[in-house]
Amino acid sequence: MADFFNTGLTQQQFLDEYWQKKPLLIRQAFTDFESPISPDDLAGLACEADIESRLIEENGSDGSWQVSHGPLSDDDFNRLPKTHWTMLVQDVDKHLPELQYLLDPFRFIPDWRRDDLMISYATEHGTVGPHTDGYDVFLLQAMGTRNWKVGGQPIHNPELIDGLDVQILAEFDTAQEWDLQAGDMLYLPPHFAHHGVARTDCMTFSFGFRAPSQTDVLDSVINLLLEKELAAGRYADADLVASAQPHQIDKSAVERLKQLLHNTIEQAEPILAEALGKFVTETKSSLASLSEETWTDLATIEELDESFTTGGELARSLYHRFAWSIEANVGMLFMAGEAYELDEEAYEFLPLLAENSVITLADWQRIKTSSQSAELLCQLISEGGWYWAD
Ligand code: SIN
Ligand code: CO
Repeated sequence: MADFFNTGLTQQQFLDEYWQKKPLLIRQAFTDFESPISPDDLAGLACEADIESRLIEENGSDGSWQVSHGPLSDDDFNRLPKTHWTMLVQDVDKHLPELQYLLDPFRFIPDWRRDDLMISYATEHGTVGPHTDGYDVFLLQAMGTRNWKVGGQPIHNPELIDGLDVQILAEFDTAQEWDLQAGDMLYLPPHFAHHGVARTDCMTFSFGFRAPSQTDVLDSVINLLLEKELAAGRYADADLVASAQPHQIDKSAVERLKQLLHNTIEQAEPILAEALGKFVTETKSSLASLSEETWTDLATIEELDESFTTGGELARSLYHRFAWSIEANVGMLFMAGEAYELDEEAYEFLPLLAENSVITLADWQRIKTSSQSAELLCQLISEGGWYWAD
């Protein structure tokens, strides 16, 4: 089993002992790490209209913990003091495909759990304040030195300082503290309080893994049950006992409701993978317009043949989320919140269609041995999930 960032732990040992359980500091997780992007490159991204970014100033002209949402402008940068501010840019893994290699060591974690690579640049003393996130996060120090203080256990409903645009904990108790240098990385499970302060100008790469919320996945299950006209039963009370208080919802009524919910879960079993796949591949609203840039007309298999044989290669859009499943003998590919069902002869192409970064002529020759897979690829191209690389 592969080693986990030179820690002496295997990936499975990390998952068993730390993942979603406790923080782990990994010295030189990326040895001799040099940031592949500079603070100026990051500032350039923060000035672009379709890219989500923020500037957080501890002592802003409009008050403490001032947040300015991107796109940022020269005016924003010109008015900044020398210290005490942080610029953060979301989804850099998608905006800069050349950074995808950084995700490779994390691929033992399901890709559909990953949200994004957020990159921050902070001047000396820059911090976003003590806070918690609902995410598993790997905080890689990419440049300079940052001091991290971490709480001792997860806090689920923390008390926040009122009236701020940033969520800052009203109280923070440090259980562990470290200085991180370039290449060091800190893993934090969800809800662990953390407070990172730049000791020097620094950049931090946050690899964030989101977990869908209970109510969000339930909503997805219910929508699919409605769409497929499943679980159409009703609350049943054949065991009703005569009552003198006809307006009361009594204990038995609540028990019957619980039973109904249990039955619903059982009836939903065949559609659970589909409900999860659709939900976790929904396009982030902040990336919707960029994901539409690759949409195109529906091409035929013959047209694809022509493009591949004349040297074309397809690239997978990083603005689209992909997943696949084979559950109870039903194969499905999920992309951007849609599910595509496939027959058994096409199962072997699911990883190729949903995981590869490119599709070459050789891949296409395999894919088109299954007409269903070839047609699906035509469809995915029209929806921008795959596009012709230059
Ligand atoms: C930062 O990079 O300043 C903040 C990262 C985090 O706390 O999640
Ligand atoms: Co955080």
